[in-house]
Amino acid sequence: AKAHHHDFVIQATPVKRLCKTHNTITVNGMYPGPTLEVNNGDTLVVKVTNKARYNVTIHWHGVRQMRTAWADGPEFVTQCPIRPGMSYTYRFTIQGQEGTLWWHAHSSWLRATVYGALIIHPKEGSSYPFPKPKRETPILLGEWWDANPIDVVRQATRTGAAPNISDAYTINGQPGDLYNCSSQDTVVVPIDSGETNLLRVINAGLNQPLFFTIANHQFTVVGADASYLKPFTTSVIMLGPGQTTDVLIKGDQPPSRYYLAARAYASAPSAPFDNTTTTAILEYKSAPCPAKKGLSIRPVMPQLPAFNDTATVTAFTKKFRSPQKVEVPTDIDESLFFTVGLGLNNCPRNFGSSRCQGPNGTRFTASMNNVSFVLPSNFSLLQAHHHGIPGVFTTDFPANPPFKFDYTGNVSRSLWQPVPGTKLYKLEYGSRVQIVLQDTSIFTPENHPIHIHGYDFYIIAEGFGNFNPKTDTSKFNLVDPPLRNTVGVPVGGWAVIRFVADNPGVWLMHCHLDVHITWGLAMAFLVENGVTELEKLEAPPLDYPVC
Ligand code: C2O
Repeated sequence: AKAHHHDFVIQATPVKRLCKTHNTITVNGMYPGPTLEVNNGDTLVVKVTNKARYNVTIHWHGVRQMRTAWADGPEFVTQCPIRPGMSYTYRFTIQGQEGTLWWHAHSSWLRATVYGALIIHPKEGSSYPFPKPKRETPILLGEWWDANPIDVVRQATRTGAAPNISDAYTINGQPGDLYNCSSQDTVVVPIDSGETNLLRVINAGLNQPLFFTIANHQFTVVGADASYLKPFTTSVIMLGPGQTTDVLIKGDQPPSRYYLAARAYASAPSAPFDNTTTTAILEYKSAPCPAKKGLSIRPVMPQLPAFNDTATVTAFTKKFRSPQKVEVPTDIDESLFFTVGLGLNNCPRNFGSSRCQGPNGTRFTASMNNVSFVLPSNFSLLQAHHHGIPGVFTTDFPANPPFKFDYTGNVSRSLWQPVPGTKLYKLEYGSRVQIVLQDTSIFTPENHPIHIHGYDFYIIAEGFGNFNPKTDTSKFNLVDPPLRNTVGVPVGGWAVIRFVADNPGVWLMHCHLDVHITWGLAMAFLVENGVTELEKLEAPPLDYPVC
């Protein structure tokens, strides 16, 4: 196993998109940021130096960080931010994960432009469980705002209204030639005739689940969130923000140009969204190309599902299986039931100069089990836990909602007024955990991509409506469920996940729609140390940032 050393300099860089140039926060002047490539078993040492005027942290999305919670990255959860002019070195080892993950800023909305791919090749000396592809290409789906994303979220927090939606979706940082002023820079993805190619697709967007497809080509899905899957074919995939999917495509079409395209899965029936399409061009390299005249020949456009096509999403998700029988935790120690969803709170009397600008003069909020998560500001939760600093958090996050109702029915908005809190749920080392994640329809039902830091979990069942413990347990797949770090809780439905709490530390669980984490759709687990040295959190690094 090797150690890979990298320097990340966070800095403002002029970036031009949609005819406008603005100073964009980047890593090393790159948007998207650098792709990191390692083998399973390698160690990453990344020194992050902050030369921007915002606080920043970097999160290694999906990396298990066994015993190295200090390197996980979410601001005020596992560390205080790296202040302007300061630096922090993240050091961690990839253990047992293979496939595609990514890294992103975990501070305010900086991840809009501060993100990149983290590719984990098989352990040295071993190989893929599928034929070695001729080429491998990361495909990062993103969102672009004409405005500064930090201003967008600040404005929303100030008014209580929903933030402005993005102005474009992007593939590898480019909107593509269906957008104004973008045709010259449309990304070209090379492919060879007769060969198999691996695309590592990442949804790095902030607030939008996305469909992704390629004209005239089929995908063979082989992995997701850096775990292998039992291969299956499909012509379209859907990724919630945070999720990754590895697909093989074969160069089996007449050599020409084909569009790769992504568009919103607008999983909230009432939410505003950008219904435009981002494109890149798949170009055959190894055969004479009839499209030599370049962009004057229009690539073949694929059919994308309708923006509200939940049936396609369900059919796709149902195909996910682990490659073989797996050890799903049984004899559950902690059986938890968490609601996930929005709320509308009354406008506090001292709320800025104007009335709240959410629906009917309310302000948007979001919660799990009616607790709207609030980050501390003087210490990180991990630091407070490790050093026993009192008064930073409590450990009374509820195992169940405070009261029951028809979660996905036509519920009154006034029923659920989320209460702010910095509440953690304590897990004993090694406990076997099951969580039912239940969407609520307060304000609107929505597909929530729920992500847990420091863990992968098995998704053992999903369904619509209210989870019913009497009948739905018969749907549990305890044989070969997929292992993931982010689950899309179906719109107006539920998902059940299981994991073993074998990684000590403080671990954030949240909706990966950034607007929802802004509103408090998060909580954190405090996983206690085990008995032996190898079951305990390591000591904090010497350059660990303090507040
Ligand atoms: Cu990519 Cu807290 O997450």
